[in-house]
Amino acid sequence: MKIEEMEVKDLNPQRFIEEKIAEIASLAGTGLAVNALSGGVDSSTVTMLGHKALGNRLKTYFIDHGLMREDEPETIVSLFKELGVLVELVDARTEFFNALKGVTDPEEKREAITQAFYKDVFGRLVKESNATHLLQGTNYTDIEETVAGVKRQHNILEQIGIDTQEQYGYKVIEPLIQLRKPAVREVAKVLGLSEEIYNRPPFPGPALAARVIGEVTPERVETVRKATRIVEEELLHTGAFQYLAILHKDKVTGVRNGKRDYGFQIEVRCWDSEDAKTGSPTRLPYDILEKLAERITTEVPGVVSVTYNITKKPPSTIEAV
Ligand code: XMP
Repeated sequence: MKIEEMEVKDLNPQRFIEEKIAEIASLAGTGLAVNALSGGVDSSTVTMLGHKALGNRLKTYFIDHGLMREDEPETIVSLFKELGVLVELVDARTEFFNALKGVTDPEEKREAITQAFYKDVFGRLVKESNATHLLQGTNYTDIEETVAGVKRQHNILEQIGIDTQEQYGYKVIEPLIQLRKPAVREVAKVLGLSEEIYNRPPFPGPALAARVIGEVTPERVETVRKATRIVEEELLHTGAFQYLAILHKDKVTGVRNGKRDYGFQIEVRCWDSEDAKTGSPTRLPYDILEKLAERITTEVPGVVSVTYNITKKPPSTIEAV
């Protein structure tokens, strides 16, 4: 089925919300549905639409796969509690790190995360709750990138021929499939989500695993997590579309206290972009770059080198994996 994009100029958010609430209610019928909230604008919007459509018949989970940023699981759960939406925190760290053990190829990593998420974790949650449907915030750009063969976005299933009913035991409902990020933000705003959510910079489904080159282990995620916090603090007011830290696979020779220190390399990326389809590196002032290098090499254990990526997308992509 060909999906038609709905651009911001053609979007009436109020009407869109009413139509999607009716559509979700009709697709779910009398059954129960589940969804995963990550706190990003897409999954937050779907959570609100789903609760308006199904009320208590929608159960929302925050899957803690151990790949999120500092304090993210608890912060998001409490933010939605204030909105009257109860979110259950699921500790799935062991499942995900087991699935990622020894995997270094980017597409295999994405595939491992997809399987852990949809088959292991949601397969179990759906069985336990007797749900028939999974509601998720796949958007137009996710499909486009996957179908074009750029990257397998972890939430793309039916569009690449996966029969979710047969493989995982539930059907998928995707209310945002016609929208790109700017349009989703408009819908989120009208749904009453806070600015912290509707203006939240994009964050990938595979989370920090998309920013670890080579094997994803709890220790390597911790290194990139610490660097991410520094990058997000320092670049918050730049107005950039997205900014991130990447951990490289190879170590390099550094020097500390006059002695050789063979350590990690962190790459910083900061993007100007409209919709993540294309992007250019932000022309950051040199003093910000120097501060990033100073903080990352002193605050993140084992890091001896920090670089700034100056490549456009294409040929780069936004994330490293
Ligand atoms: P790339 O790295 O493909 O990223 O240039 C484009 C935009 O998509 C985000 N991204 C993802 N979002 N699932 C998502 O929902 C994914 O698997 C995924 N991979 C990348 C990325 O952060 C950027 O905004």
